[in-house]
Amino acid sequence: MNNFSFVNPVKIIFGKDTIKDLTKEIPADSKVLIIYGGGSIKSNGVYDQVTKALTSFEWFEYSGIEANPHYETCMEVVSYIKENNIDYLLAVGGGSVVDATKFIAAAACFEGNDPWDILSKHAKIKAAIPFGVVLTLSATGSEMNAGAVITKSATQDKLAFGSPHVYPKFSILDPEVTYSLPPRQVSNGIADAFVHVIEQYLTYPLRAMIQDKFAEAILTTLTIEGPKALATPNDYDVRANLMWASTWALNGWIGCGVPEDWATHQIGHELTALYGLDHAQTLAIVLPGVMTILKEQKAEKILQLGQEVFGIYNNLSREERIENTIKAVENFFEEIHIKTHLSDYGLNKDSIDKVCSKLQGRGWTLGEKSNITPDIVREILTCRL
Ligand code: NZQ
Ligand code: ZN
Repeated sequence: MNNFSFVNPVKIIFGKDTIKDLTKEIPADSKVLIIYGGGSIKSNGVYDQVTKALTSFEWFEYSGIEANPHYETCMEVVSYIKENNIDYLLAVGGGSVVDATKFIAAAACFEGNDPWDILSKHAKIKAAIPFGVVLTLSATGSEMNAGAVITKSATQDKLAFGSPHVYPKFSILDPEVTYSLPPRQVSNGIADAFVHVIEQYLTYPLRAMIQDKFAEAILTTLTIEGPKALATPNDYDVRANLMWASTWALNGWIGCGVPEDWATHQIGHELTALYGLDHAQTLAIVLPGVMTILKEQKAEKILQLGQEVFGIYNNLSREERIENTIKAVENFFEEIHIKTHLSDYGLNKDSIDKVCSKLQGRGWTLGEKSNITPDIVREILTCRL
């Protein structure tokens, strides 16, 4: 196991009817800005619960954060915050709203000339407006981590940043608010959390047993409970297991002291920025390709994944177990109704050229060994046509 240090300061408030507890978490006399998306919180009752809990505060609201949040929209919110002297933010939504809020919190305090530098140059963040989260979609883990992904629509760049200053002060996770999710978003959430674990697990063995066993527990939970959430959407325990699994998939814990990959995400972000595919759709396309092209480098962990999560055992040859495990991952995405090939989304070879040239321009090589060049990305995507 590699050396590591670990802290996660986010207070989690989990369970039924917990949104009202946010009153106790926000300092009295705060001027609070509620930030939310396209309006799902108005139709499922979450908006009413939040505003009722904020009765004793002076509060404002800003709606219209897009899925895959735009830098341009975030900067409008920053201006609104400055005009109204807002000093506390409350993200109410899924990963996009939470990510946008993180960026807004940092950009509002940014001392440099251009806040886009936070994303494009990893400019140093020295402060951020404090914020809390009411999560409505379990997927990204953003509610308990210090990262965010923002898209500049003008240039089709989807980039990530992270800073200890953008950990939420608290996150409220009420599984009941996820009942109103459309099936496509339920599936997306399951796949996203699954791939977050894979990015931190499917590299090479370091005998990090706690991290591995924990990762396998999250993956197993997602593969068992995921299809149930689609079949019986109002099962509380299923939703609770998925919500908690998604949070733990990316709160830093399983990444302690182990190598991390993230190639699937980085390639996927280019597909979303260029073609507007959902984040999880891109992951379901790319991951089986990464596993196929990198199967020798990742062989030991693919075998472990097959055995521990998909029940693929020693009665087969090593090669068969690897192939069957890659197929099992692809089948899992298809089982939760996410298509796994570029052509399923109307994309062809031209899209591969565009993704590779974007990555070439960024000068990135990807993966746990930094050996996935744009040429290898071409091979990965070509086997997903
Ligand atoms: O905008 P509204 O009306 O709220 O509708 C949203 C949106 O259309 C809807 N929704 C959310 N909660 C709902 C609901 N509809 C009904 N009932 C509810 N309870 O769902 C749609 C998608 O929401 P979004 O927030 O975009 O989804 P998700 O949580 O999957 O977030 C995706 C974003 O997170 C980023 C992705 O790149 C993408 O931009 N990620 C962030 C990460 C992080 N910060 O650590 C890691 C991830 O890898 C990911 O990259
Ligand atoms: Zn993701």
